[in-house]
Amino acid sequence: MKKLNFLFFIVLISLFGCEIKKEDMNKQKEVKEEFVMYTPSEMTLLMRDMFVFQEASKKLIEKGALPKKFPERFKQIHTAELSDQFTHNTSFQNFTNLYFRNIENLDNSTKESVKNNFNIAIQSCIACHKTTCTGPITRIKKLLIE
Ligand code: HEC
Repeated sequence: MKKLNFLFFIVLISLFGCEIKKEDMNKQKEVKEEFVMYTPSEMTLLMRDMFVFQEASKKLIEKGALPKKFPERFKQIHTAELSDQFTHNTSFQNFTNLYFRNIENLDNSTKESVKNNFNIAIQSCIACHKTTCTGPITRIKKLLIE
């Protein structure tokens, strides 16, 4: 069972997680026990939640509707606790502010401007991810509406 969990985690990490250095991977293999007990950070949980919300927004926009207003709980990006390798430094704060400005524009969209504003907001997810957590970028790009 433990072995299964371990494999599942490797698959998860390689699909969606942030990139982990090779040496770290080897170190983690030695401490399998701890590895199995990995708990995602507050920010990781928030991001997964936000991903699901944006997926639903994309579907609504594709149907010609306006998406739901951005939920207040996501404002916690400013303070949510991060995994050890990341910090709320100035660059991170700037990307967060840019993202929220774009989300505000998205919330004030008309049916004519919503698709464009949605894509701009998703681009700002990607912009921040390029400087922090590159793993999920391919997945985030799939949110873009063609
Ligand atoms: C200000 C920077 C920033 C913005 C903006 C941002 N992210 Fe993230 N995201 C991160 C960081 C940093 C992590 C890693 C969190 C950690 O490890 O604690 C992360 C993690 C993730 C994860 C991985 C969760 C996992 O399972 O490991 C997903 C998926 C994700 N973000 C999607 C999004 C989406 C979708 C958006 C836009 C709607 C977005 N992010 C906007 C910085 C950002």
